[in-house]
Order: sequence, then C-alpha cells, then structure tokens
Amino acid sequence: MKFFIDTANLDQIKEAQELGVLDGVTTNPSLMAKEGITGKDNILKHYVDICNIVDGDVSAEVVSTDFAGMVKEGEELAELHEQIVVKVPMIKDGVKALKYFSDNGIRTNCTLVFSPGQALLAAKAGANYVSPFLGRLDDISTDGLNLISEIRLIYDNYGFETQILAASIRHTMHVIDCAKLGADVMTGPLSSIDGLLKHPLTDIGLAKFLEDYAKGNS
Ligand code: E4P
Repeated sequence: MKFFIDTANLDQIKEAQELGVLDGVTTNPSLMAKEGITGKDNILKHYVDICNIVDGDVSAEVVSTDFAGMVKEGEELAELHEQIVVKVPMIKDGVKALKYFSDNGIRTNCTLVFSPGQALLAAKAGANYVSPFLGRLDDISTDGLNLISEIRLIYDNYGFETQILAASIRHTMHVIDCAKLGADVMTGPLSSIDGLLKHPLTDIGLAKFLEDYAKGNS
C-alpha cells in the first residue's frame, strides 16, 4: 500500500518524507488556499517545491471545468515536473479529458468520486488513479469503506490497472481498513500516518527496558 499525504503544507510534507515511508502527495484547491498559495505563478511554483521534497507522485488539480480548459491546464501542469499527476474532476468533460491525457501520455488522478459507477467510468477513460472520498461519504452517514470494496471488486473483475487511491481519509483506522480492503494507495493527513506507530504497550515496554538498563549501567 502506498502512503500519500493530503496537504500542501511543506513542513508536514518534509516531516512525512523524513519518516521514510512517503510515496507521494495529493493537493486540491482548498488545501492550496489553506496554505495561502494564490496566483498562478505561486501555485505552479508550490507544486515544483513539493516535487523537490518527495520522490513520488504529486497530484495537482485543474480548476477548469470544460474539456479545452482542462487539457490546456493539465498539459501545463504535467510540463512542470515528471512527478506531477493531473487531478481531474469526475464530470463529463473530465472523463473526456482523462481519455485525452491517457492517449497522450499524461498521468491522471480522477477526483471527487463517490460511486462505483464513477470509478468504472474513470478506469474506462484510462485514469491512473481514482480517488473515492470515503470520509465525505461517512460525513453524510453513508458507508465510505463499502465504496472502496465495491471498486476493488469491479477493478479486479476486469483487470483494470487504475489504482484505487482512498481519499478523504480522516484517521488511522481509515488507513487500516483501506489496507484490509486492498486499496492501492491511501491519502490522508500526517496525523493518520503518525497514528499507526502509536501503542501504549510500546511506550510502557520501552520505559521498562530503559529503566532496567539504567539499573545496571548507571
Ligand atoms: C483527495 O485527493 C482530496 O484532496 C482529499 O482527500 C479530500 O479530503 P477531505 O474530505 O478531508 O477534504
């Protein structure tokens, strides 16, 4: 399972990278705005800064909603750095753009996916990643994890190579559940990754080891 961090915050990206388990980064316009990154030049520079921190794929989202606009923006984003994956929304022109990018060697991540049908369409259009937003489904009392299972089943039935990028992960249990269900990638906040290493018995055990060592070695 690949670990992506879902943020545009450079300090958090560096911290996750230094842990040695980071495979990539996802961003979206809201995450960029949260960091105060505005204006086209600053936004493009920020994507390059992120690529220079991590080794893996960095999703950069288009903001156009028409085919021609998405193609123009996506081509410009892909030119920025070889690690850039163009993030395209699941709308009709987005599906057309996914197919165009797939035919022209530009890697894509289909975002805002909330149903198995949308995921099937994204795979048919040649998306490299599909991003089901499980946390946002949970928010409206719908089973987000079930969507991951349904997409896994459909993709395995037909051998689609589109990677399931479990998105809108909110906490560590989401990460574990997605791993059990066979999601290829998870993207979440740094806290969802940090949470994986925590267990009270580890802390208690380590304290005891150090205490016993100190008794004979002080
Ligand atoms: C996916 O790539 C999105 O950036 C993200 O996971 C959305 O998460 P949220 O629902 O916590 O905003």
